Amino acid sequence: MLYIGVDLGTSAVKLLLMNEKGEIQKIVSREYPLAFPHPGWSEQKPEDWMKAVIDGIKELTAECDRAHIAGIGAGGQMHGLVILDEEDRVLRPAILWNDGRTQGETDWLNNEIGKEKLTEYTGNIAFAGFTAPKILWVKKNEPEIFAKISKIMLPKDYINYMLTGVHCTDYSDASGMLLLDVKSKCWSKEMLEICSVREEQMPKLFESYETVGCLKKEMAELLGLPETVKVCAGAGDNAAAAVGTGTVGDGACNISLGTSGTIFISSETFGVDSGNSLHAFAHADGAFHLMGCMLSAASCNKWWMDEILQTKEYGEEQSGITEDMLGSGHVYYLPYLMGERAPHNDPAARSCFIGMTMDSTRQDMTQAVMEGVAFGIRDSLEAAKNLGIQVPHSMICGGGAKSPLWRKIFANVLNIELTIPETEQGPGYGGAILAAVACGEYASVKEACEKLVKVTASEKPDPVIAARYEEKYRVFHQLYPALKDLFPVL
Ligand code: XUL
Repeated sequence: MLYIGVDLGTSAVKLLLMNEKGEIQKIVSREYPLAFPHPGWSEQKPEDWMKAVIDGIKELTAECDRAHIAGIGAGGQMHGLVILDEEDRVLRPAILWNDGRTQGETDWLNNEIGKEKLTEYTGNIAFAGFTAPKILWVKKNEPEIFAKISKIMLPKDYINYMLTGVHCTDYSDASGMLLLDVKSKCWSKEMLEICSVREEQMPKLFESYETVGCLKKEMAELLGLPETVKVCAGAGDNAAAAVGTGTVGDGACNISLGTSGTIFISSETFGVDSGNSLHAFAHADGAFHLMGCMLSAASCNKWWMDEILQTKEYGEEQSGITEDMLGSGHVYYLPYLMGERAPHNDPAARSCFIGMTMDSTRQDMTQAVMEGVAFGIRDSLEAAKNLGIQVPHSMICGGGAKSPLWRKIFANVLNIELTIPETEQGPGYGGAILAAVACGEYASVKEACEKLVKVTASEKPDPVIAARYEEKYRVFHQLYPALKDLFPVL
């Protein structure tokens, strides 16, 4: 049988076709626009996602025997607010995970409702990217739209709704709304009330690997697929990527280097970060995880290369950075192009270069960008260590992980061994695996991961380079606190 995995990302949707042995037969991708209507705002049109998914599925399945397609599973960008009216019309562009407009609502939740109460209700505090502050923002700033809301959902849930007609979500993605009681896996009555939301506006909850429905007749016809194709609930992209890299079970770790950068630590039991840096979310395997998320990771490199250096030759720009240079420069870069989530929870934070001298080169700055992103992930790793969690090893995936140099920098900055999966299609591969479990091909997500996920190589830290980075990290660590009060003025 064949399974379609959908990775509904921020710059593009990537779709892949996987057979029951886990072999990827074809990959296609479709880009869509991303709008920044004000500095720090970030929006996309759900209709653009859907069009890209439909076109993508048609291309993906053009040469295969479509009768063999059994299931579809999506991993989607998390936290985005999608709202529909009674006629299922999209009420406004989706407000995305990296949108920082809700500072006021986030502060109100954390200070007036209070972090303790929020943690009691949901297991988490408020971050500007989460969905609940966005609902409060729409209520305050667009009351006529708020009054028309009939259905609330997350980005990949919109795709699933259009495919099946079932208004649903899964626990991993729902965790990032700040409306779910993550530990008890039900909507928090208190949070719904605080946000003036009724439970019937919320999607029905499923485990990621459960089938929510089959393709609607008209959708099956449009796609040229059988009506029997099952759609599983899918997962937030990080939980899907964790499945795609085999990151299940206690203590397993995955680092995703995409537009955002995340460190994802899987756990059999529910646990909260008392320091409030890491999110306490449900996992797509039925258990839980802790996650630190930085808002700009590979996107820092993309911005630096595309916008500033005006080149597409990323590899060439990095080629002069040799091993002896790693950890030895004095240029630093703060990776806060869209503000920062973990650990600073500061939408006002901004990027900067620091430490240049007359002999600093373009290459030094390229290196500083790559190191700055790795230091940002190290901040979240430190938060996990402070909770007593040991992370001796991690998987690494995402577009940024394709760079051998960046992988080396990460292994040495974090001072842990990193393993590279055979496919870097983390969320899409995870989505296809979840679909295979939903269709009964495997008994559990764990079993599917054990049988399907293969690794290619690993990157071990070098004690000399790691020691140099240890010193550099100590300096990096002092930069944000020193600049923090300036950012709101900027
Ligand atoms: C996770 C987060 C990002 C997005 C990226 O909390 O906000 O990783 O899911 O798509």
